[in-house]
Amino acid sequence: MLDTPNKQKSHADGKILQEIIEGVGIITFNNPDKRNAMSLDMWEGFGAALTELRDDPNVRVVVLKGAGDKAFVSGADISQFEKERHNAEASEEYSKRSAAQRALFADYPKPTIACIRGFCLGGGMQVAMLSDMRIAAENSQFGIPAAKLGIAYGFDGLKHLVSLVGPSWARLLMYTGMRIDSREALRIGLVERVLPDSELWGATMEIARTISGNAPLAIQAAKITIAQVLKDAHERDMAAVKNIGTACMDSEDFREGRQAFMEKRKPQFKGR
Ligand code: COA
Repeated sequence: MLDTPNKQKSHADGKILQEIIEGVGIITFNNPDKRNAMSLDMWEGFGAALTELRDDPNVRVVVLKGAGDKAFVSGADISQFEKERHNAEASEEYSKRSAAQRALFADYPKPTIACIRGFCLGGGMQVAMLSDMRIAAENSQFGIPAAKLGIAYGFDGLKHLVSLVGPSWARLLMYTGMRIDSREALRIGLVERVLPDSELWGATMEIARTISGNAPLAIQAAKITIAQVLKDAHERDMAAVKNIGTACMDSEDFREGRQAFMEKRKPQFKGR
């Protein structure tokens, strides 16, 4: 755990909040009146917050959450669709701007956790699925209502959905646009853990603090290697897997880890 002062900041006119608590970067989608629906400004603010937390050496893990108790993110802000996404051409420009932020998140070098309370829909599901893991409150609801709106959910979003829940559940969710509750989401592998509402934040922060106290290079090795496992064989960057493995074995932290074990004390990792 790192002893850093809380640093708060906001983007997108306060609709994206950024904070650091004990080595944990926290990004809050803060548009509760619209169930935290994502405008383009919010996508860009999300990207800015991700970039700052990525570049802050005191931050070892990033948690995403929605403001209020009703939603994580209810999807893209549909009120912007008429102006910004009314046909294929407009949609391409819209998608390019939001996809750039999702690409940044998809390749994020630090571990990420989605802390989900309430509605997690459409683009909110995409953010949640791009996170390394999802912890949800019992009252949450999950769905991708693209078929109810007449829009196509993109390749990357569906790739993640299929890898988490398999093709049949992906089809059931996509063809019907249905919403499922936390219990079902847990059962099909969409989320990793479900907790009573009152325990959600404490349990999420406990996982985040555990991660931030572990060896950063070893976590990076796991993150990089799992990302390669999920790629098609011909697209895998096995050199990256080898390089991070070498970096771990030659690291000060590996020495610290084995010394701390032998001395029966808690290791102090530095990420090098
Ligand atoms: N985009 C824009 N506005 C949204 C929104 C979205 N994705 N989701 C919710 N809102 C707005 C509603 O229009 C409403 O605004 P109003 O108070 O000005 O009328 C407000 O948020 C509260 O929503 P409401 O529907 O009254 O709340 P609810 O608790 O009954 O239902 C949802 C919440 C999220 C289930 C429902 O609003 C909904 O289905 N939203 C659309 C979800 C969606 O299709 N997402 C995919 C987009 S690609």
